[in-house]
Amino acid sequence: MTSQTSPTTSTDTMPTLQVLGLTKTFNPGTPVEHHALNGIDVTLMPGEFACVVGSNGAGKSTMFNAIAGSIIPDGGLVRIAGENVTFKPDFKRARTLSRVFQDPLKGTAPNLTVAENVALAYGRSTKSSLAFAMRRERREMIHDRLASLGFGLEERMDTKVGTLSGGQRQAVTLLMATIGNPSLLLLDEHTAALDPEATRRILDLTDKIVSAGRITTMMITHNLGDALSMGDRTLVMDDGRIVADVSADERRGMGVDDLLALFRANAGHDLDDDKVLLEK
Ligand SMILES: Nc1ncnc2c1ncn2[C@@H]1O[C@H](COP(=O)(O)OP(=O)(O)OP(=O)(O)O)[C@@H](O)[C@H]1O
Ligand SMILES: [Mg+2]
Repeated sequence: MTSQTSPTTSTDTMPTLQVLGLTKTFNPGTPVEHHALNGIDVTLMPGEFACVVGSNGAGKSTMFNAIAGSIIPDGGLVRIAGENVTFKPDFKRARTLSRVFQDPLKGTAPNLTVAENVALAYGRSTKSSLAFAMRRERREMIHDRLASLGFGLEERMDTKVGTLSGGQRQAVTLLMATIGNPSLLLLDEHTAALDPEATRRILDLTDKIVSAGRITTMMITHNLGDALSMGDRTLVMDDGRIVADVSADERRGMGVDDLLALFRANAGHDLDDDKVLLEK
């Protein structure tokens, strides 16, 4: 049998995200001391898409905050595309990493138009000014990118973002978060404020954008069905730890009940999540 070495590049073999032994204690030495992260290890290869589920206060957002540089961990390290960024402030990571939050207004300027918001995001990724970013060819590019979202936003380029529906705003936010081709996309319950129909549309769009750009992604969700069906892997968190890391193979054929049973077996108690959605 002949063995064939497939051509690989260093960027394909180097993880996009490496989190090693991450720890964080809030209010240390006080009566409200809380160990939010108790040694988190996660590796994401280029293009991998992992969903994150867990109990209330399991440390999901805190893990994202440490990866994004919004908090500095007490121990452990964060490497993005091979670079140790553990102590690098968030604004210095902004060009490699994008986040989308639950609140659709968090990622956009509500008093600027759709086109201006997208132009600003594009300008940030290319370091060009707003005036430059708004030149005609940019406007055409923005028009085409908006049209590709399938939300009719290309017809509303001059509408203020604050007047759009939540779903439309999250579609704009997703475009803004990914227009600069980030190395890593972090989605923190980005559909939690939307109605079921808008949620479905935004999840479909997420899938489309992430697959088309092969963007390495982590998505926190309370919907266990989505956590099993979207992306390639499911990470399960409890009490500042990852208690299960379910691979694509292991996930196949797994239902929500199986995930709940796995949680119980590994965490030693039932999933206590008051926002949990068991149905798709
Ligand atoms: N800045 C902070 N100061 C003090 N405690 C904090 C801070 N941020 C988070 N915590 C606490 O750390 C724990 C983990 O919070 P985190 O927001 O990461 O949980 P989560 O898994 O995202 O939960 P949820 O599903 O409710 O969003 C919680 O007990 C929270 O109260
Ligand atoms: Mg959270």
